[in-house]
Formats: sequence, structure tokens, C-alpha cells
Amino acid sequence: MSHELSLAPSPWLERWAHLLRPGMSALDVACGSGRHVRFLAARGLGVTAVDRDAEALAGLRTQAEVLVADLEGAPWPLAGRRFDLVLVTNYLWRPLWPALLASLAPGGLLLYETFARGNETVGRPSRAEFLLEPGELLRVCANLRIVGYEDGFLAEPQRFVQRIAALAPDPAAAAPLRIPLAG
Ligand SMILES: C[S@@+](CC[C@H](N)C(=O)[O-])C[C@H]1O[C@@H](n2cnc3c(N)ncnc32)[C@H](O)[C@@H]1O
Repeated sequence: MSHELSLAPSPWLERWAHLLRPGMSALDVACGSGRHVRFLAARGLGVTAVDRDAEALAGLRTQAEVLVADLEGAPWPLAGRRFDLVLVTNYLWRPLWPALLASLAPGGLLLYETFARGNETVGRPSRAEFLLEPGELLRVCANLRIVGYEDGFLAEPQRFVQRIAALAPDPAAAAPLRIPLAG
């Protein structure tokens, strides 16, 4: 992808960070050079980071469990593992959906943000296989509790983005979870 992605954390992760607590487990899928690994580790989460780029992961070993894995050409490397947070930003490989959803612990939070249809008019990625369709994240998360969803345009750099925050069911939860909302 040719977009210059900021080294700062995604505002979408920052917006939902109040749901995170020290000691939680987090999985950052296709983590790249680790801007979110550092953000989460600094907040006391136990982070597992996966990417195929061994060089990018090398600098993260002191802060996370790192797994060099091809997520598209090999079996899911974390079968049976569950996480309190599953985070994916700027990456889309649709066959992973079942594995990502199965990786959520009861009550676990899915934060997903990536390029959406329309992005082909402003740059890359431009291929349909890398762009979310309108409402796609809502459909994928239909069995989760969706607490935040946006589908729109961001100015710097110009890009069409869709993003969701959704919680897995927790049958053991005694009372309705009070999700603090901004504003
Ligand atoms: C645009 S970067 C996003 C990095 C990070 N999530 C972020 O938002 O800063 C996409 C990442 O996906 C990784 N990736 C692409 N194809 C992959 C594959 N088949 N298996 C594992 N990682 C892959 C790349 O190595 C790259 O780090």
C-alpha cells in the first residue's frame, strides 16, 4: 500500500482505548512495524503480534509475543487462542474472518479499520479485494454487540475508511455491560 501511514496510533484505537485494561490480552493482526503493539504494551496489555514481515517484527520482541506468519498462504497460526482484544488496521484478507471472530474471548473487543470502497478514486489500495464493501463490517459482526461503526472519508492522507468496534457475547456476564460513550 502506498499510503503514508502515520506512526501515531489510529484515532479509532484511541477512541476505544477506555475499554482496555492492564493485563488484558491483545492480538494485533498484520501489525506492521508495531505502532499499535507499542500503544497497547505501554498500557499494560499482553500483546501478541503477527505479520509476515520478520524485519518489521524484530524490533517488537521486547514488547510482545511475535509471530512471523503468512496469514494468506498458511493455516491460521493461533488456532485455539482467545484474546480480550483483536485489532486489525489497514489490512484485509476476507478468508480470515472466521479465525478472527473465533479469536475473541467472551466479551472480547474487535477493533477493525481499513480502506473501503471509494478509495480507488483517491489512491491505493484500489483493488476490490482490499476494499470493504458498504456495510461489510456490520454484516461480518452481525452476531457481536456493535458499539461503534463508521464508513466515511478521512482527509490526511485522503482515504475512504470503514471501521467498527464490536464486543463478543459473554454468557457469564451478570449485568448489562455499561459501555461509556464519548459525548
Ligand atoms: C498497511 S500495513 C498495516 C500495518 C499496521 N496494521 C498498521 O496499521 O500500522 C499491512 C501489513 O500487512 C502485512 N501483511 C500483508 N500480507 C500479509 C500476509 N499474507 N501475512 C501476514 N501479514 C501480511 C504487511 O507485512 C504489513 O505489515
